[in-house]
Amino acid sequence: MEKRRIQIFDTTLRDGEQVPGAQLNTKKKLKIAKQLEVLGVDIIEAGFPASSPGDYKSVHDICKSIKNPIICALSRAVKKDIEIAASSLKYAKRSRIHTGIGTSDCHIRYKFNSTPEKIMSIAIEAVKYAKKFVEDVEFYAEDAGRTKNDFLAKICENVIKNGATVINIPDTTGACLPEEYGEKIHFLKENVKGIHKIVLSTHCHNDLGLATANSLKGIINGAQQVECTINGIGERAGNTSLEEIVMIIKQNKYLNLYTNINTQLITPTSHLVSKCTGIKVQVNKAIVGVNAFSHSSGIHQDGIIKKKETYEYINPKDVGIEKSLIILTARSGRAALYYRYKKLGYFLNKTSLKLIYSIFLKYADKQQKEITDKELKKILKNSNLHKKEIKILNHSRNRKIINVF
Ligand code: KIV
Ligand code: ZN
Repeated sequence: MEKRRIQIFDTTLRDGEQVPGAQLNTKKKLKIAKQLEVLGVDIIEAGFPASSPGDYKSVHDICKSIKNPIICALSRAVKKDIEIAASSLKYAKRSRIHTGIGTSDCHIRYKFNSTPEKIMSIAIEAVKYAKKFVEDVEFYAEDAGRTKNDFLAKICENVIKNGATVINIPDTTGACLPEEYGEKIHFLKENVKGIHKIVLSTHCHNDLGLATANSLKGIINGAQQVECTINGIGERAGNTSLEEIVMIIKQNKYLNLYTNINTQLITPTSHLVSKCTGIKVQVNKAIVGVNAFSHSSGIHQDGIIKKKETYEYINPKDVGIEKSLIILTARSGRAALYYRYKKLGYFLNKTSLKLIYSIFLKYADKQQKEITDKELKKILKNSNLHKKEIKILNHSRNRKIINVF
């Protein structure tokens, strides 16, 4: 069976940038947009132009300099917002307006003090109005995760009838379990007339740490687009992270899916977004955390030195990392210490390794941190090895055995 292409809709510059303290000026937004283009995303949600003149300018300028991805602008289901979004997209080679409204009982009752009938009509009018400006209109049913499936299906059917080309099913509060979200997508696929003419999109938030799992269930059940951000940044606990969903698709051939992402650019893109937004990536973050390809326990290090695949499921080169690291701490073993000295050019024999390892352990226990190359050299220099005339092979001298002390 032919592989199915999953479109990557990147919302780092919209949902990601909403995070307090992450606001980006036009120059930084442009820089990130250019990087997203080379990364290979299909759609860049460049901003919410009605929210501020600065965001309007960012979307406007991004449209002028980006060629390949579709540029998308967010708007509420409000005529003025839609007009501003359309105007900001004037120079886009390919443009999309993303408009919508809350559809859950909670949103209808408390946010809008309205009724399902009125919300339905606002949704239809918004799509119709956006269609006057652009061909490609994406509708979002905010809080779809907590919206009853029957009402969600009705609203989807009506916006499709009125020209929506993409429908976004956001789990806005991160409330869904993967099975539940997958079933929702399946239900819509089975029960909405016209659903096969449009692209169905996932948009999951990470309040329970399930954003990526939910998006995965969504695409397994037939969604064709994933909305995500670099490093998973976004409202509260964030959005589905691009690097996670893309690498899940790449690593699991049986899914029979693919994306257009050049995965080797994932790490530089992550660094750029972190630098521009000032949001640090947690050290153990999947794929892009500094520890994602670092091995520090003795058992793991021993395995990795013997054969990478023992503890490395993803090839670091696939995400733009030259090689994984063997980190030395008090939890490291002799194999790792030998390996690291070897990298520095010192080949310790059995006796010298035994001695140095015991000195190293005492030192590392005191330091309670990673031990650097500089410290390793110092440990060697301060040891009593020279007295015992232990031979150390110096790598830089063509593997000739010499006494370094
Ligand atoms: O989480 C959400 O519901 C959103 C919509 C505005 C698309 O970000
Ligand atoms: Zn969102």
